[in-house]
Amino acid sequence: MTTTQCVDDFRLHFGKQELVPIMTGGMGVDISTVDLALEVARLGGVGHISDAMLPTVADRRYDTKFVKDKLKQYKYNVASSDKSAIKFNLGQLEEATRLHVRKAMDAKHGGGLIFINCMEKLTMNAPKETLRVRLTAALDAGIDGITLAAGLHLGSFALIEAHPRFRDAKLGIIVSSLRALQLFLRKNGRTNRLPDYVVVEGPLAGGHLGFGMDWAEYDLATIVAEIQAWLKAEQLDIPLIPAGGIFTGSDATAYLQNGAAAVQVATRFTVTHECGLPDKIKQEYFRAEEQDIEVNGISPTGYPMRMLKGSPGIGDGIRPNCEAYGYLLDSNGKCAYIDAYNREVAAHPEAKKIRVWDKTCLCTHMRNFEIWTCGHYTYKLKDTSVREPDGSYRLLTAEHVFRDYQFSRDGRVALPE
Ligand SMILES: Cc1cc2nc3c(=O)[nH]c(=O)nc-3n(C[C@H](O)[C@H](O)[C@H](O)COP(=O)(O)O)c2cc1C
Repeated sequence: MTTTQCVDDFRLHFGKQELVPIMTGGMGVDISTVDLALEVARLGGVGHISDAMLPTVADRRYDTKFVKDKLKQYKYNVASSDKSAIKFNLGQLEEATRLHVRKAMDAKHGGGLIFINCMEKLTMNAPKETLRVRLTAALDAGIDGITLAAGLHLGSFALIEAHPRFRDAKLGIIVSSLRALQLFLRKNGRTNRLPDYVVVEGPLAGGHLGFGMDWAEYDLATIVAEIQAWLKAEQLDIPLIPAGGIFTGSDATAYLQNGAAAVQVATRFTVTHECGLPDKIKQEYFRAEEQDIEVNGISPTGYPMRMLKGSPGIGDGIRPNCEAYGYLLDSNGKCAYIDAYNREVAAHPEAKKIRVWDKTCLCTHMRNFEIWTCGHYTYKLKDTSVREPDGSYRLLTAEHVFRDYQFSRDGRVALPE
């Protein structure tokens, strides 16, 4: 092992394809934009778009009216706490996915790939049917690969095994433990298709965590080594892609030297022009100190989530918005936020505005960029840029951050020109 190697000394191989071994992770809702994925693909890596809440993303970006239509259809139900009748229109869901994926694939240049991140926890009051439509539409629209996320995905391959692209598109899964990978392989074995890659996400990642509130007791390198040893013993050759807290090119290089096929990174890209967060919020990410970041249990999914403590969505008590959104409704039309909200309304019958602290209306607040989810090392972002005379931090280009990962050595981070 030499200290002079950098990420560019390695390549990610998918069949005959050679890629720069840098993957940008999916960041919902539209934080990992098409523009960000396009830049990463142009530079020879793998860029993710996200399939979270695509009907509302399509409305914002492609002038559709999916949310308005849904709200109109279910407006009668807004005051009711029984949300079981609210169903997604599968044709519209398909169209939203197609529009977004086509937008990315039609504009793609360069030697890289564009994948889509699909979270199983978006159960949408019909988990199987909606997931099948999302996966199928992404394949139809020509996506290069799909990363199965936020869930065990025990039946996900079966949902698309009849698709003509099932064996040609790259399919991978995000796991946070050997056990989750073993379960996935066992349950999907019937389709006679291994995943093309496995993202191993540790406890320092942004978004939802695949750990309990004891996340701090786990360590990415240890989990990667454990999975690597097991795959070797089983004689399974599946590329491993560590993720979570890989902040510098040297951090990435260390994993590649130890046999990882690539790395998945996200937090460094939240302060780029191409990232979908509003610019004002990117400054919040830059300014964050370590004590401004927490892992809490307010996501109705039941997974812990990391975010800035200053997120306006924390403690907010808006009426559940399931008639417009409803992405977290389980197969019985339930969401933990609805219960928390109703409890507070019952406890404060006179109040004009209530607060709900234990759960948040995640659909609404992710849609409106009011839950500022982030990786553990967000507090180091300020060291990756320079300050302008007005005190704000200079936004970076995705190209700058990508190339810094690709070429930096000795733990250095290149500042913008
Ligand atoms: C703002 C933000 C949003 C994220 N959203 C998602 C998501 O929607 N789905 C998902 O699987 N992972 C999500 N992640 C996790 C990333 O894809 C990635 O695996 C992880 O953050 C990598 O660690 P890093 O941020 O320390 O580089 C998100 C991360 C961030 C920072």
